[in-house]
Amino acid sequence: MVNRTVYDALVKNYRAHFGREPEVVAYAPGRIEVLGNHTDYNEGFVFSAAINFGTFFAASKSASASCRLVAGDLMKEVAFDVAGIGASKTDTWQNYVKGTFAGLTAVKAVPCGFDGMFLGNIPLGSGLSSSAALEMCAGLALGKLYGIGVDTVTLAKIGQKAEHVYAGCKCGLLDQISSLAGQAGKLVKTDFRSLVYETVEMGGDACFLMCNTHAKHALVDGAYNSRREACEQAAAHFASVLRHPVHALRDVSMAEWVLYKRGLPETVANRAAHPIGEDERVLKGAELLAAGDLAGFGALMFDSHESSRVLFENSCEELDAVVDAAKKIPGVMGARISGGGFGGSAVVLVHPRDAETAAAALANAYAARFGVPCDVSVITPAAGAHVVK
Ligand code: GLA
Repeated sequence: MVNRTVYDALVKNYRAHFGREPEVVAYAPGRIEVLGNHTDYNEGFVFSAAINFGTFFAASKSASASCRLVAGDLMKEVAFDVAGIGASKTDTWQNYVKGTFAGLTAVKAVPCGFDGMFLGNIPLGSGLSSSAALEMCAGLALGKLYGIGVDTVTLAKIGQKAEHVYAGCKCGLLDQISSLAGQAGKLVKTDFRSLVYETVEMGGDACFLMCNTHAKHALVDGAYNSRREACEQAAAHFASVLRHPVHALRDVSMAEWVLYKRGLPETVANRAAHPIGEDERVLKGAELLAAGDLAGFGALMFDSHESSRVLFENSCEELDAVVDAAKKIPGVMGARISGGGFGGSAVVLVHPRDAETAAAALANAYAARFGVPCDVSVITPAAGAHVVK
């Protein structure tokens, strides 16, 4: 089992806290975003992977309508009633579970509350989607507990709605789909229009480093939402000037952007160019992966970061420093922002034989610049979310 020690600690704490065994336990991993940035809500394409860090959720039915929920890392308990699952302004970690539970109860009413506890090892706020992992393991565990069967895409949408309504971030579906659909050693390639995903072999010559800068720049959710609004504004513009239907930026090519961006404010036009270029890079990347050209795929990752830095402006000094340092390290094939941006982590593509030396070189280069090292972990694409017990 992946992360067995976390599972054992959770079950032990659950027993000590609730005085019984959990009836169900489910697991969901975090994710890395490998290529395709801010394309999901523009109905485009993304390469991602579930990772070897994740969260477990243990639960049993309670004897009343009340729910007790414990964050296993803090051993802090909150309580709420099945009839009133509103967002909370304090202990905001509970909102991801509440939002997911509310989504499940909209599918089918539940007869009683639950005693739940979760514990994981995904570094929080690092851009590895710990919140989506929490939603997905809670969704699978509580779905199993109450016999509410939902398919992958429905569960992903329930998690996304929890983010929109309970956490205020108008995210796409990338984090939830990646957590659910991942497979060991494989990338997940998703078409966010049809919501069809496939897994793609990485080959043994590649692994990833995740460099957590710990940078968290102000107004992360506000900046994310404003980027999304700019993309929607640009899509509406292209819909009005192009002769074919435009529902989202997915429908606009780079050539059309060049010819028809006139009339858009420069910043909005630049924002739109990022997901449009990313879609082209993901499709090109799929061809390169199929041909076994990892170096070519990595070069697209560097291009993706440059597009984030210059056009979408969702990078920051710390992430740029990681990517710049990565370019000079032997064995590194590509590096870029992973996820929303504005801080968090960068993902680096490297040959497994170079992983340890490249990780040390990156941490040192970062420390030389900022006085503290960034955290570098070797990531292997791992199995997606599943019920464990
Ligand atoms: C965050 C969001 C995702 C996606 C990425 C950027 O991770 O939650 O939906 O938009 O940013 O690609």
